[in-house]
Amino acid sequence: MGRKVKKVVLPVAGLGTRFLPATKAVPKELLPVVDRPLVQYAVDEAIEAGIEQIIFVTGRGKGAIEDYFDKAYELEDQLASKQKTKEMESMAGSRHLAGNVTFTRQQEPAGLGHAVWCARHLVGNEPFAVMLPDELLHDTPGCLAQMVEAFEQTEGNIVAVLEVPHEHTNRYGILDPGSRSGALIETKGMVEKPDPNEAPSDLALVGRYVLLPEIFELLESQERGAGGEIQLTDAMAKMIGTHPFHGYHFSGIRYDCGDKVGFLEANVALALRREDLKDRFTEVLDHYLPRE
Ligand code: UTP
Repeated sequence: MGRKVKKVVLPVAGLGTRFLPATKAVPKELLPVVDRPLVQYAVDEAIEAGIEQIIFVTGRGKGAIEDYFDKAYELEDQLASKQKTKEMESMAGSRHLAGNVTFTRQQEPAGLGHAVWCARHLVGNEPFAVMLPDELLHDTPGCLAQMVEAFEQTEGNIVAVLEVPHEHTNRYGILDPGSRSGALIETKGMVEKPDPNEAPSDLALVGRYVLLPEIFELLESQERGAGGEIQLTDAMAKMIGTHPFHGYHFSGIRYDCGDKVGFLEANVALALRREDLKDRFTEVLDHYLPRE
């Protein structure tokens, strides 16, 4: 019987500079897509994948994320006394059993690899998932649920990938692919943000990982990579050849909400999928983008 993936690490300590000035006082992860904070979409995807423990790696100025997952006594009391049941129910996804959502701090944004390493004691010696909540992924079942199922076959590292335009390879970690079997792609290597003329493929890592705990030993050396940051990709690349390693070809829809246009696109796309909003919102869009 293989080991199960029960924990997820959500690194949310980044500065979110692409969304300044909004992110001066509000964490990027709490910016709403329609009416739910970005982080709620990732947590829902994790719960759907059977994850039992959610570990946030936060930083200074991110306290509102902890409040979001706490009870809001006064608000809930007011809503209950006014019988605002729908509003109460809308908050269900932010309520979890005490102890199932934990927080640790990354004291300085030294990179994604460093943020994951900060969670080592909370994860312990078991396979775990990592999700970047600014990547909003839509599929049925969710991307992480698909990866967790794939992990039962491979029992090794799995990174979600999707094709990006060739000229964009220098924005992502890029996979050097071997043979394919269904959605699983054997991995020969990975490169962080390669120039298009040096990129081994157009398959970009997309913010969902299932990792073996041995990654923590590799992150321990605190080696700096691209941009002077401790890169998760570099540590993962060292496990290729010693542990099973696959890309998981994600075939759903991805919104890069760390980028302004991706964030706006997610708002439009998800609003149009909502029964309560789509008719009115379509009228509004028609007004701005009149059809011939
Ligand atoms: P990004 O590269 O999107 O950086 O980080 P950022 O700070 O969030 O946003 P910009 O680029 O300044 O606008 C990818 C993910 O890794 C986390 C971020 O919070 C985000 O979820 N991260 C990054 C950390 O937790 N710590 C770090 O040191 C770096």
